[in-house]
Amino acid sequence: MMLSSGQQDRVRVIFRRVVREVWIVTAAYRGHRGGSTVTWLSAASIDAAQPTVLVGLAPNHFTAELVEASGEFAAHLLREDQAELAWHFAAISGRNHDKLAGLECEPAAGGLPLLRDCLARVTCRVYDRKATGDRTYYWADVVDVRELGNARPLTDQAWFAGLPDSRRRMLGEQLLSDVEQQRPWQAEWRSSLSAGDRRPERG
Ligand SMILES: Cc1cc2nc3c(=O)[nH]c(=O)nc-3n(C[C@H](O)[C@H](O)[C@H](O)COP(=O)(O)O)c2cc1C
Repeated sequence: MMLSSGQQDRVRVIFRRVVREVWIVTAAYRGHRGGSTVTWLSAASIDAAQPTVLVGLAPNHFTAELVEASGEFAAHLLREDQAELAWHFAAISGRNHDKLAGLECEPAAGGLPLLRDCLARVTCRVYDRKATGDRTYYWADVVDVRELGNARPLTDQAWFAGLPDSRRRMLGEQLLSDVEQQRPWQAEWRSSLSAGDRRPERG
C-alpha cells in the first residue's frame, strides 16, 4: 500500500520530532578502516548483565561492509560540540577515502578504530543480523565500554538545525540517491518473505 504524498510528508514530520543521539560507528577489516555517522542505534536489551546494541546500516555503505566482514564495531556517542565530526563522517563515503586519517585513535586489536575524542564509546561484537533491503540490522554484545565525560550528547535535531543550507541540500541528495539504490533490494526482500512471515492483510 502506497501512502499519498501528503501522508508521506506527515510521517516525515512526525519522525523529525523524535530526537535521536548522533553516533559514529567505526569498523575495520584486513587493513581497511572506516566509519559512518549513525542515528539508527539503540540499546537492545534491558538485561544489564548482558548489554546489547542494535544498529541499522545501509548495505551499500562502506562501514556496513566492514562490519559485515569483521563482525565487530565501535560506537562513539558524540558531544553537543562535535557537529563538525558528525558532518565529516556523514558527508561522503569512506570507500575511496580514509575518514580516520588525522583523527586521534587508541590502538585496538584488528585495527578497529577507537576515536579518543567522544562522549562515550562501546565496542561491540555482532551475534546476529537481519538484512531487510535498505538496512541490515546487527545485534551485538557490548564487549568493552569507555565513558569519557558527562557533557550533553549531540542530537540529530540540534545538528540539523545548525547545518547551513548547502550541507542540508547535499544530505538530501545523498538520501535520495540511497533510497533509489536500496528500493529494489527492499522489494526483493519483501517478495522473498514466506506467507507465514507476513502480517495478515486487513480489510
Ligand atoms: C543524521 C544522519 C544519520 C545517519 N544515520 C545512518 C544510519 O543509522 N545508518 C546508516 O547506514 N547510515 C546513516 N547515515 C548516512 C551515513 O552517515 C552516510 O551515508 C555516510 O557517508 C556513509 O559512509 P560510509 O559509506 O563510509 O559507510 C546517516 C546520515 C546522517 C546525516
